[in-house]
Amino acid sequence: MKARILVAYASHYGATREIAEFLAAKLRESGFEVDCSAMRELRTIDDYRGVVLGAPFYYGRWPRSARRFLNRFGPALAQRDVAVFATGRIEPTRTESEVRPQLDALLDRYGWLRPFASALFGGRWDPAALRGVDRWMRKLPGSPLHVLPATDLRDWDEIGAWATHVAAALHAAAAQPNSPPPNRSGPLVPARR
Ligand SMILES: Cc1cc2nc3c(=O)[nH]c(=O)nc-3n(C[C@H](O)[C@H](O)[C@H](O)COP(=O)(O)O)c2cc1C
Repeated sequence: MKARILVAYASHYGATREIAEFLAAKLRESGFEVDCSAMRELRTIDDYRGVVLGAPFYYGRWPRSARRFLNRFGPALAQRDVAVFATGRIEPTRTESEVRPQLDALLDRYGWLRPFASALFGGRWDPAALRGVDRWMRKLPGSPLHVLPATDLRDWDEIGAWATHVAAALHAAAAQPNSPPPNRSGPLVPARR
């Protein structure tokens, strides 16, 4: 039987959801049965051996639905092969190493998660799509978003390469069904690439 994989995401404006759907399609091409679902809709993760988690950064942290998901499914996630991605960078002049500390802080905070792979992808920024408090925050003169033009820094080649990397690790884990998940016994692949 094929190993079932869950790609669970949080997304306010769709950019992270599109990455999650892309990753799910790539993992299906690699031979896995994959479900892709918003974190807030999931009631159980019992059916899955591997979980890919993804959420955007807002104001330096993950959205509430993602934090709730981590808290609710912590014990179950700790028993599974977990990979984590985040979206964030929307200023073309900022490098990945400048924004990476956000993800490192998140992974430190949820230290029990011990993902076998993690990545921070560029995000999408569309001021015209903003709703509610986001719209007002952007208008504040001191906000770095005040003058930022619309942009989409998602690099689909980079995301595809990460999907290949994750699929290879999940295949290796599935080939050793009696071994503990790689995130419990030490990473099969470098946690930070
Ligand atoms: C109001 C607002 C605050 C944001 N704060 C951050 C942040 O603190 N760090 C970061 O890296 N990106 C930040 N971003 C960029 C988002 O993470 C990026 O736009 C992401 O692609 C949004 O994903 P989504 O469309 O799935 O919600 C922010 C975007 C908005 C609109």
